[in-house]
Amino acid sequence: MPVYTHPEFHDHEQVVHAFDAATGLRAIIAIHSTALGPAVGGCRMWPYADDAAALTDVLRLSRGMTYKSALAGLPFGGGKSVIIGDPARDKTPALFAAFGAAVDRLGGRYVAAEDVGTSVEDMDHMRRATRHVAGLAGGSGDPSPVTAYGVFMALSAAVRHRLGRDGRGRDELGGLTVAVQGLGHVGFELCRLLHGAGAGLVVADIDPGRVAEAAATFGAEGAPPDRIHAAPADVFAPCALGGILNDSTIPDLGAAIVCGAANNQLAAPGHAGAMARRGVLYVPDYLANAGGIINIHYERPRYDAAAARAHVAGIFDTTLQILDRAQVAGILPAAAADTLAEERLNAASRAAA
Ligand code: NAI
Repeated sequence: MPVYTHPEFHDHEQVVHAFDAATGLRAIIAIHSTALGPAVGGCRMWPYADDAAALTDVLRLSRGMTYKSALAGLPFGGGKSVIIGDPARDKTPALFAAFGAAVDRLGGRYVAAEDVGTSVEDMDHMRRATRHVAGLAGGSGDPSPVTAYGVFMALSAAVRHRLGRDGRGRDELGGLTVAVQGLGHVGFELCRLLHGAGAGLVVADIDPGRVAEAAATFGAEGAPPDRIHAAPADVFAPCALGGILNDSTIPDLGAAIVCGAANNQLAAPGHAGAMARRGVLYVPDYLANAGGIINIHYERPRYDAAAARAHVAGIFDTTLQILDRAQVAGILPAAAADTLAEERLNAASRAAA
């Protein structure tokens, strides 16, 4: 399978295929960059249609981690891994131990963490073969509240930039309406923070029980899951699955600002431009949802929740800086975010030379 001519190959430092006959392990580990530190990134388990689909995913995701960590001001590089298999059927402790052995052979250049299809328990099985695993049971625990706090900060910065309000203090979001899609671990916590800051909420989830709970807890108004993006609001916060910003939803968006936790909110990169042409301010998802990776940094030697939270609060200033830069330069926030990340990477490379 060609790597160097692959459209998602962008000067990745190392791409490793890991195979273990005894456990059936078939995995790929991609290290995009270690310029800022060890390449920390999730291990995804997914029933990919073929090896090519797995390679595409791991190349794209690992590069994304380089930019996410650089923007978050972390001493981490960018990496990701994929295990080809069905998490509901193919998981065994031995499989994850075999994967851990593959991670260990990289000598700490890649540090694995939980991702789609893997759990804290799987990380513990990996740990039998390597210490280069983050997010273990007894470590920093569920990152969702910290992630929600980061999204709240990014959202507040976007409100200040677009609406001229100082969203940082309590009550500054008062009177605004936020439409939240997805009331899971992150979305529900985000609602709590927004409600505490005086914002009104319109919410949707495919689980009606979650909507009823948000109505009872925060006085939130329910909306149909397939129309939440069109709800009249000041901000739309996607906190469910990826791909929500697409050809059919963008023309109907009911808010002038989009900022949420979901990964890969854009169905395709061109959709950021489509929103800008409609006058919608889109905060790049990897900027707003960096709380989880920041949390990992504060896991060792002993989890420091206060330091993690203080670092996550910095997402406010980073977001404001990126939105202001984008406006001055007449470019998309995503382009300004990439430029800031590249400046940090280049500075680190120069310092190391
Ligand atoms: P979760 O699985 O706890 O919550 C997702 C919620 O969305 C569930 O309540 C589900 O019923 C709902 N949902 C699914 N499809 C929906 C639809 N079509 N319309 C409305 N609701 C729908 O997931 P979690 O942890 O809250 O994560 C949310 C998003 O944020 C995901 O995209 C995740 O990748 C991303 N993220 C999460 C981080 C974390 O710390 N948990 C860190 C960074 C990103």
